[in-house]
Amino acid sequence: MKSAEKIAPFIVVLVLAGALADPGYAQDAEHGKNIFKACAACHATDHANRIGPGLGGIVGRKAGTAPGFHYSDSMKKSGIVWNAKMLDAYLKSPQKVVPGNRMPYAGLENPTDRTDLVGYLATLK
Ligand code: HEC
Repeated sequence: MKSAEKIAPFIVVLVLAGALADPGYAQDAEHGKNIFKACAACHATDHANRIGPGLGGIVGRKAGTAPGFHYSDSMKKSGIVWNAKMLDAYLKSPQKVVPGNRMPYAGLENPTDRTDLVGYLATLK
């Protein structure tokens, strides 16, 4: 009986993890908005530049072209047009996709988090 009591909390954790992994949860812009909190220290959701360029209208925009923002040469010369696929790759590993860019962000490992975040970015106009 004692050992069953001991594993009970782990079962609760497993059930919760299963609920989070539910496919219905994927591509959830609301969840993405939550993840964006990690970006909001530097990025506005409109066209205002802060430490980073404003991300309003980022999907479909050419990299390094927010008016008035002082980009690195790497970002300006990357030739990227931001679409969902490029944003996913960049947010996974910013330095791999745009070597030498100046965004101080290591990358977002979880693929579901990235998909939801990019889904949210697509709602920014
Ligand atoms: C500590 C500040 C900081 C954080 C946190 C940060 N960024 Fe950035 N971001 C920057 C800076 C600075 C640049 C410009 C990089 C350059 O010019 O090389 C940038 C560039 C970008 C670009 C390219 C924009 C363009 O106009 O081409 C995108 C997209 C972007 N960030 C998305 C994100 C997202 C999404 C997050 C959250 C996961 C995030 N960033 C977190 C500072 C930050």
